[in-house]
Amino acid sequence: MELLIPKVNLGEVNEEELTQFWEQYRNYVGWRDLELLSEKNKDIKEKSEFIVQNCDVFLVVGIGGSYVGARAVIDALQPYFEEKKPEIYYVGNSLSSEYLYNLKEKIRHKNVIINYVSKSGKTLESKIVFADLQRFMAEKYDEEEMKKRIVYTVGNTNIVPDGYDYFLIPDDVGGRFSVFTPAGLLPIAVAGIDIEKLLQGAAKADIQDAQKYALYRWAMEKDDIAIEAFVVYEPKLFYFIEWLKQLYAESLGKAEKGIFPVGLINTTDLHSLGQFLQEGRKNIMETVLIFEDQTEVLVPEYNCFLKDINAVAQEANTKAHQERVPNLLIKMGILNEVEIGKLMQFFMLACAINGFLQDVNPFDQEGVEVYKKEMQAMLKS
Ligand code: PA5
Repeated sequence: MELLIPKVNLGEVNEEELTQFWEQYRNYVGWRDLELLSEKNKDIKEKSEFIVQNCDVFLVVGIGGSYVGARAVIDALQPYFEEKKPEIYYVGNSLSSEYLYNLKEKIRHKNVIINYVSKSGKTLESKIVFADLQRFMAEKYDEEEMKKRIVYTVGNTNIVPDGYDYFLIPDDVGGRFSVFTPAGLLPIAVAGIDIEKLLQGAAKADIQDAQKYALYRWAMEKDDIAIEAFVVYEPKLFYFIEWLKQLYAESLGKAEKGIFPVGLINTTDLHSLGQFLQEGRKNIMETVLIFEDQTEVLVPEYNCFLKDINAVAQEANTKAHQERVPNLLIKMGILNEVEIGKLMQFFMLACAINGFLQDVNPFDQEGVEVYKKEMQAMLKS
């Protein structure tokens, strides 16, 4: 990983205070102990093999941190248009009746296994949809078969009925930091992705780089930057950006502080949001994620490969914006398990350190609870 940071006064982290911060939040930072997380992976692999062999369709029922990390990794690492067995669908991340209805129609005559992922077991969207899917499964399978076809990934065994398999999300890992727990790893393993390599990559994340990025973000915030555009030039990374948006917004949008994260999938968004970056309000920074591309599609008109033209688009864009949009580049190797694992752990570390600099608790989400309570009250009445 290479971090190309524009020249600004970054300041520095007070190491002693940072150590105290990690200590203060020791009950929330279990995701830093990758060795301990790795030890628990044997069961995940075994279960994923069973799932692959016994279904055509695998449903991941979850919302927020209970699905988006898995989807980010799976979409990033699978070839476009690949017909995979099992097909993986994500559900319970919205309240769309049409999505649920159409999904059930599509899978009605297929062999299905469900993974219900919810740390609290209380989140309304995934809970309602899971209950509906349990009824759907009960029409297809008898009780014994259901026990083989529903797997729980939860924070507490209270909600797991007798005889069903489950995985635990550790107490000290919150939703948006849970991609390297069974919440992310079981679906990722079902997709045929090497979870050991992913964790090996995560272990390579450089804390100094994370610290630099956190300091840079904090310097930008103090300089009145209000929006961070995460920019990619590879559409497969759409859900990676969704994961980043969740991580940074839910962790740092607190106490009237924070930078609002958005995503740009270029070059598509250069034909829409690009205009705003070039001439709109000057309160945006860009964080560009670049992976090495090895696919060679010849473009005889320019006597080079398509990937070279994509790289030129990125350089031209940086040049065009540089006078007015602070532009940070994160250069990665080839898009694979190791690199994506490294990048995710880097962003989680940087996010936590950014919370320390901002003096907010990056691990809670009281703001999200407000709408949940309002909704529960309205539903009761
Ligand atoms: O980061 C978080 O904690 C949240 O985004 C949760 O992941 C999300 O609300 C889903 O919660 P749960 O896993 O309890 O259903």
